Parts: sequence; C-alpha cells; structure tokens
Amino acid sequence: MSRAIIPPVVHEYLEPGSLAEALRRDVLAGLADRPRSIPPKWFYDERGSELFDQITRLDEYYPTRAERSILGTHAAAVVELSGASMLVELGSGTADKTRVILDELMARCDRPTYVPFDVSPEFLRDSAVELAHEYPGLAVEGVVGDLDRHLDRLPGGSTRLVAFLGGTVGNYHPGPRAELLADIAAAMEPGDHFLLGTDLVKSPDRLVAAYDDALGVTADFNRNVLRVVNRELDADFDVDAFEHVARWDADEEWMSMSLRSTVDQQVRINALDVEFEVEAGEEIHTEISAKFRPDGVVRELAAVGFDVVRQCTDELGDFAVTLAVKR
Ligand code: SAH
Ligand code: TRP
Repeated sequence: MSRAIIPPVVHEYLEPGSLAEALRRDVLAGLADRPRSIPPKWFYDERGSELFDQITRLDEYYPTRAERSILGTHAAAVVELSGASMLVELGSGTADKTRVILDELMARCDRPTYVPFDVSPEFLRDSAVELAHEYPGLAVEGVVGDLDRHLDRLPGGSTRLVAFLGGTVGNYHPGPRAELLADIAAAMEPGDHFLLGTDLVKSPDRLVAAYDDALGVTADFNRNVLRVVNRELDADFDVDAFEHVARWDADEEWMSMSLRSTVDQQVRINALDVEFEVEAGEEIHTEISAKFRPDGVVRELAAVGFDVVRQCTDELGDFAVTLAVKR
C-alpha cells in the first residue's frame, strides 16, 4: 500500500508569557533556597537543546547508546505487546531513538499516529516536520507543553504507547517524580502501555565521566541555564565565572550538578527586581540525575497503577527500559 505524506499538526499549550512567568516564579523560589538552586526545565532553550544533542554523542555519555541498543532489540516486541496505534513521546527532544519504535509501529498498524510532547518548541517543530516526511502515512500531532501542567491534554482516541525515554524521569526529585508518574498514569486509559527509560546505578567513575565530559560540553550545557536567566529575566550572572560541578551522591543514588562561582559577584535580576551576592566558591544547584535499580522502577510504577509487562537492559546492564500496562 502506498502512503501519502500527512502534514504535521502542532498544538501549542505554552501561552506567550507563561514560560517567562513560570521561570520568574521558579527562579525566585530557587534563590531563596540554601544552597541556591535553579530548576532544570530551563536548560532546554534552542542552544540548550542543541548542546544536549551533542551530549548524546559524547564518548563518555553512555545512556543514549545503551537505550538505543535496548530499543533495537526489543522495539518489535514492545509495539506488538502494546497493541498501540498511537505513540506518545514525553520529552521527545530530537526524537532520534524514536525512529526505532516508529519503524515497528509503521509495519504493524494501518493508521499510526505519533505525538511528540516537549517544552522546547524549536526541536519539536523540526522533528514533527522531519518525521512526517520520513514516514509517509504517519499522522504527527505534536504538543508544545509542560509535563508539569499539560498532561491532561494528550490526544487520545486510540490505544496508546506512552514513551518517556532518555532517563529524563531521573531529573525529578523523588516526591515530584511520584507526582509526575501519577499524572502520566492519570492521563492514560486502562490497557494503554507506558515505556520508561531509566539509567541504572553503576560505578561512580563512569557516572561522573558521563556528566563531566573531557570536551566540556556538559559544562557548557549546565552553564546555559544562567544564559537563559540572563536573557529571559534581564539578569547579569557572569556566566563564564561559573564552573561545572558533577558529583555522585551515594546515599541518594543520584548525580548532582551545580555551578560554582569562581569569583565574588553581585548579581542583579531586573525582572524580579532583586540583587544578591554570590561568593567565590558558592554553588548554585542545577540538576539531579537519579540512577535506578530495576526493582525500584517496578515498585514506583506499581505505586501509581501500572503493572510491569517486561523489563529490558542492555548487555552491560547500564540502562533499563521498562514496559508497563495501565491497570
Ligand atoms: N527523549 C530525548 C531527549 C531527552 S532530554 C532523549 O532520550 O534523548 C529531555 C527532554 O525533555 C528535552 O527535550 C526537554 O526539552 C524535555 N523536557 C524537560 N522538562 C520538560 C517539561 N517539564 N515538559 C516538557 N518537556 C520537558
Ligand atoms: N536526562 C539527561 C540525564 O539525566 C539530562 C542531562 C544529561 C543533564 N547531562 C546533563 C542534565 C548535565 C544536567 C546536566 O542524563
């Protein structure tokens, strides 16, 4: 059967100004914390998304390759078991690995739909157009939205496979993570499947290298969050006077990322009308990346109403992809 290219549709749920408003709130709250912090959602402006894309190709950054190899081996079974005709991808980014799943979806179903969902509009629009052309017959219905606010607007109407890859779930602290997983479950129908990618606990050396690469791409990615604040909130962080810090927290089992000022600096954030001192050596916390154990993933999914159908790891046991069904 020959299939025609279907023009992609993109829904925009981020009202103009709503991101800036949320950024203002988040930055204000984070700066009142001790240590100060800036929440991770703000990494992914166009430059940040570009830098993350470079991270995925670094020698030290094993998660993307590990997850791709797992999907290569198991995507056919996942799509088959799910019986889905719609693939929803949360935090889709460049949707690079997604193609492995889409190949199987295209082969197995008559009217396949792909729903990329991301807060970063540039990459979402580009990937929607690319995929619609690459896969004639695939309906692409993108959503520019915030996982923390717009999950209730996911397109429905057919059996869904909801994928959340890249270990992004690990960027949430345990409390918010449980809430996010519960919100995802609430947005799904019984019988829909969930495919979750999680990075696994491993030797601290490899973890630290993955988050502090020799080329300094991750450092630049981390610092980019200050560039976003400077631009969006008219602030004057001296971005180059911050160094990237990546530590393994063995008790919490997460990587903890921060930015350490190398100088005493007076920072003014005009949009918030605040001014404060950052001392030399002070760290601003930016992101965690939690590492999981396979049984922990099963437990967290069960707690929000999913039954695990299959759990797959790569040969080295570096990364896990878990398929679960909504009860
Ligand atoms: N899935 C891709 C990208 C992972 S990077 C991969 O596996 O390589 C994380 C992605 O999640 C980015 O594209 C970022 O823009 C998106 N993201 C982060 N926080 C988000 C949020 N609150 N709402 C929607 N998307 C978010
Ligand atoms: N989801 C990615 C991860 O946890 C995001 C990421 C990669 C990241 N490298 C980073 C976040 C460095 C902050 C700093 O692996």
